[in-house]
Amino acid sequence: MPLVEIDHVAIAVRDLEAAIAYYRDTFGVEVEHREVVESDGVEEALLKVAESYIQLLTPTRPDSPVAKSLETRGEGLHHIGYRVADCAAALEQVKAEGHRVIDEAPRPGSRGTTVAFVHPKTAFGTLIELVQE
Ligand code: CO
Repeated sequence: MPLVEIDHVAIAVRDLEAAIAYYRDTFGVEVEHREVVESDGVEEALLKVAESYIQLLTPTRPDSPVAKSLETRGEGLHHIGYRVADCAAALEQVKAEGHRVIDEAPRPGSRGTTVAFVHPKTAFGTLIELVQE
């Protein structure tokens, strides 16, 4: 079950508007989509670069995983989203290889996608999100 594309690179920020302005003014990249994902306690802005996105993420509540990440690791790279044709099959492959996952089953992501997170502990230190459009 190969990876199709880098769907997004997610960056945790404290001030979403300032980060959006930075990318717009410095790199000429505009917001294509914004969404609050209540289940994850985040607000995101997606900035399109070719067929991929920069995903700026900020917490909407103090108990959000992104809030905890900002507390412990500060702003910066949070996870990488890899596009796959079949999220469930890709997730099963990770488990079949004996690696840890965060989501035991695929779940809804933003933009109507289906997603699952793979644990960084057995993924060489990177939080990986499998994204099916
Ligand atoms: Co993501």
